[in-house]
Amino acid sequence: MTKDTKVRAAITAIEAYLPEYILTNDELSRMVDTSDEWIMTRVGIRERRILKEPGVGMSYMAIKAVKTLLEKNNLQPSDIDGIICSTVTPDMVFPSTAAIISDACGIKNGLSFDMQVGCAGFIHAFKTAALYIESGFCKRLIVVSGEKMSSIIDYTDRNTCPLFGDGAAAVLLEPCADGNGLQDAILRSDGIGKEYLHMKAGGSIKPATHETVDAREHFVYQDGKNVFKWAVSKMSEVSLEIMDRNGLNPNEIYFLPHQANMRIIEAVGNRMGMRSDRVLVNIDNRANTSSATIPILLWDNKHLFLKGDNLVLSSFGAGFAWGSIYLKWAVDNMK
Ligand SMILES: CC(C)(COP(=O)(O)OP(=O)(O)OC[C@H]1O[C@@H](n2cnc3c(N)ncnc32)[C@H](O)[C@@H]1OP(=O)(O)O)[C@@H](O)C(=O)NCCC(=O)NCCS
Repeated sequence: MTKDTKVRAAITAIEAYLPEYILTNDELSRMVDTSDEWIMTRVGIRERRILKEPGVGMSYMAIKAVKTLLEKNNLQPSDIDGIICSTVTPDMVFPSTAAIISDACGIKNGLSFDMQVGCAGFIHAFKTAALYIESGFCKRLIVVSGEKMSSIIDYTDRNTCPLFGDGAAAVLLEPCADGNGLQDAILRSDGIGKEYLHMKAGGSIKPATHETVDAREHFVYQDGKNVFKWAVSKMSEVSLEIMDRNGLNPNEIYFLPHQANMRIIEAVGNRMGMRSDRVLVNIDNRANTSSATIPILLWDNKHLFLKGDNLVLSSFGAGFAWGSIYLKWAVDNMK
């Protein structure tokens, strides 16, 4: 058998930053008409982290994640060829938050740009970065996904405020020629999602005015029931397709799904025929951190993975945009 020496992009380091403040279901129950019991049974979230430091944006968390990643792995900023940041909560409309993060971390010789693909941002940014690496255009890229969801959540709306949390995570991607790294990706979208999941004002259709602020139009709007149905159907579809075309069976993969609702995670896992211990979950204490969800889930579970392990990551979010990626873990005992 010939040795597989194709150059693939592999995750060689990962770091995350979660804010210290813990917003519990009990505290939420004092803010809106809800209860720990409702949130636990309908969604599966017990608590979420919230960035409370005054005057800082999403980059505050992403910078901490990237700086720690560099320090722990003895890397200099000049070793990095660029930063791709996925987020729906950039510090500002422009410049890109990637540029802000690069500047704060001293990364001066690389590309920096943001990608906005809703909750599916990380898997899209990963695939994009992988193409840069496989082509030889870049050697070391950081993909950082971060969200300050608390900046766009209406804490008077019980339909959405229990669902989201803040956080950031960064992965280092490097070329790998031993058969591990990114194997396959399926990325899809359907613009019908605009109707069900959007922010009404603050963009160029409806710039901010006193009226839009008074009408509370700068927050997440979600038709939860429809998003739920689409999320189950589409995450299962692409995850089954990627398993099928790579000859994977459910017993030999770890499945890392987007963490929006425990009932979605279970429904998708069941459709894929997964054993529950192979479906990784951190929704109870992280909640949905939009595009940061998947890398935070990876970081929380990195102690489980050995070189050569098969991981399928799948996400679904605004757009709609969704997808699955299949990778072989490339490093034993990642720090
Ligand atoms: C949002 C979501 C948790 C709502 O759960 P649901 O079971 O669909 O609940 P419904 O929207 O049907 O609401 C049922 C009832 O619970 C109520 N309810 C909603 N939120 C509540 C809360 N936090 N506490 C108590 N009751 C609540 C509703 O008002 C409704 O009451 P009504 O029947 O009197 O109108 C669920 O639809 C969901 O997770 N959707 C997908 C989210 C997602 O995947 N997002 C991904 C994009 S990032």
